[in-house]
Amino acid sequence: MGGYSTIVVSTPAEGVGLVRLDRPKALNALNHQVMTEVIDAVRAFDADPVIGAVVITGSERAFAAGADISEMAGLSHREVTEQDLFAGWDGLRGLRTPVVAAVAGHALGGGCELAMMCDLLIAADTARFGQPEIKLGVIPGMGGSQRLTRTVGKAKAMDLCLTGRTMDAEEAERAGLVSRIVPAAELVDTAVEVAATIAGMSRTAAAAAKEAVDVVFESTLAEGIRFERRTFHALFATPDQKEGMAAFLEKRAPDYRR
Ligand code: CAA
Repeated sequence: MGGYSTIVVSTPAEGVGLVRLDRPKALNALNHQVMTEVIDAVRAFDADPVIGAVVITGSERAFAAGADISEMAGLSHREVTEQDLFAGWDGLRGLRTPVVAAVAGHALGGGCELAMMCDLLIAADTARFGQPEIKLGVIPGMGGSQRLTRTVGKAKAMDLCLTGRTMDAEEAERAGLVSRIVPAAELVDTAVEVAATIAGMSRTAAAAAKEAVDVVFESTLAEGIRFERRTFHALFATPDQKEGMAAFLEKRAPDYRR
């Protein structure tokens, strides 16, 4: 893996893959190249049996300030529809590996949307979230109107999408967008620790938990409950369930096969 020009990829802890967006001059604006490289790197980690969780982060100043406005400003309707602009980001769907977003600074437009594509979101106290597309005469195009509304509810989603205002980390945590807030200097270390904790779990159970939570976004309650119960039952066919429960009863740490 490597040869990237807009991201930096590393494995900072056992079982953890880290993708850092690295276009500092454009505040990590998400152009086509960034999209291709992020998808490639995250999918490579997903396919690597050593990796059990991935962290996506940006810089102290910006997670990402949105889709690259200079790249799309001149496109015609025909061009955006023919290339199905932003559809490539669907490459982050359907991953088995949990993905943690570690957000400092601006997470605006596509930046906020990329963070919301991740499974959980840890914010630095400097983080600012928003969907300011309306100020550019457009609307969110990478899932923001849908994921934000499902995550924080209609009131705040309408507020952010219609006024283009940003919310700070505290407001984002209160609204349910952010799982934890940490001092900016500790952001990446904390996210890597969380990812390492996840990577230390049964991989089968982690993938199942992620899939079950994600079903909420795409189904009714009745379907979701049914899906969860079936998946719970299915895990009794795995060695990790036998090992995890035996280890608890024997008062020892579980030893999951990788
Ligand atoms: N696209 C392209 N370039 C961007 C960018 C973006 N989204 N955001 C910032 N940049 C560039 C700036 O043009 C500037 O470049 P130059 O130095 O070459 O002029 C550089 O990054 C630094 O930005 P600023 O000088 O503006 O920095 P600032 O600290 O004064 O302001 C900011 C920071 C408030 C984030 C401001 O840059 C800003 O408002 N950016 C745009 C935010 C935005 O509208 N995002 C939504 C984009 S549309 C979208 O994302 C669609 C979708 O749903 C997928």
